[in-house]
Amino acid sequence: MLKNYGIILASGIGARYKSDVPKQFVKIAGKTVLEHTLDVFEKSDNIDNIILVITPDYRQMVEEILLKNNYSKISKLLNGGDTRKESSYIGISSIEDEEANVLIHDCARPFLSERVIKECVEALKSYNAVDVAVASPDTIIKVKDEIIETIPERKNLMRGQTPQCFKLSLIRKAHELSKNDQNFTDDCGLIVKYNLGEVYVVSGDMENIKITYPSDIFMADRLFQVKSTLFPQSAAMSGIKDKVLVIFGGTSGIGESIADLAKKLGAQVFVSSTRTAAR
Ligand code: CTP
Ligand code: MG
Repeated sequence: MLKNYGIILASGIGARYKSDVPKQFVKIAGKTVLEHTLDVFEKSDNIDNIILVITPDYRQMVEEILLKNNYSKISKLLNGGDTRKESSYIGISSIEDEEANVLIHDCARPFLSERVIKECVEALKSYNAVDVAVASPDTIIKVKDEIIETIPERKNLMRGQTPQCFKLSLIRKAHELSKNDQNFTDDCGLIVKYNLGEVYVVSGDMENIKITYPSDIFMADRLFQVKSTLFPQSAAMSGIKDKVLVIFGGTSGIGESIADLAKKLGAQVFVSSTRTAAR
């Protein structure tokens, strides 16, 4: 069986984020973005080994974070390069296996789900290259000199996310072919540009956002709040099937959400508004 490697790219400087430290060290819900992303890979049943590519200037900070967390899957801590492409190549080149599955992920996307990781690994059984993308809710327009050139059909357009996943031998070859090529987009872009085969697309999650601008951290904070409140609810309420539940204040807000969730989980739910109950 091929090993599944997660390469986490955390060697950017986060110029657009404009904070004192690169954005991977900014905290969401008490933990750095880096820790959230590492947690996803560490906990995943579909990842055997993690390779972390970091900014050399922040090695000490990363080492302290790793010591605190006791991750068991991280096998390498590598200094990245000046571009994302270089960082990705440094990660890929460090793998000694002849063949493996490689999932290259932006550290700046801490909301990657296990569902996406699993589907990527599944897809690598049939394809040598796999991208993750979501439909675009906005119309995408092609512009030149501030004038619309064309409006491509939206149904054919998707927004690329990560991980981008490959058979090791293929992505190695793509990077070797493009060594002197500065005109590239990302790893999947190399496969397409050099005609190295089909790239299958796994459907991503809208919440798998990339922290890029300062405002993204507010969105990220909200997403974490929603995730952390959803999980205990569904876990604690899993034994509720066929039970009878009466919810006072169940006609709106949190009460209404609990009623909806309980119904979905198979409970018989009676709701009453707090105003009616007080009468
Ligand atoms: N990345 C990297 N090495 C680089 C550049 C980027 O490992 N030389 C990583 C970033 O750390 C990030 C991911 O690639 O997790 C996606 O890149 P991006 O969002 O562009 O991050 P930055 O390059 O850090 O941000 P900016 O472009 O605003 O400077
Ligand atoms: Mg960048």
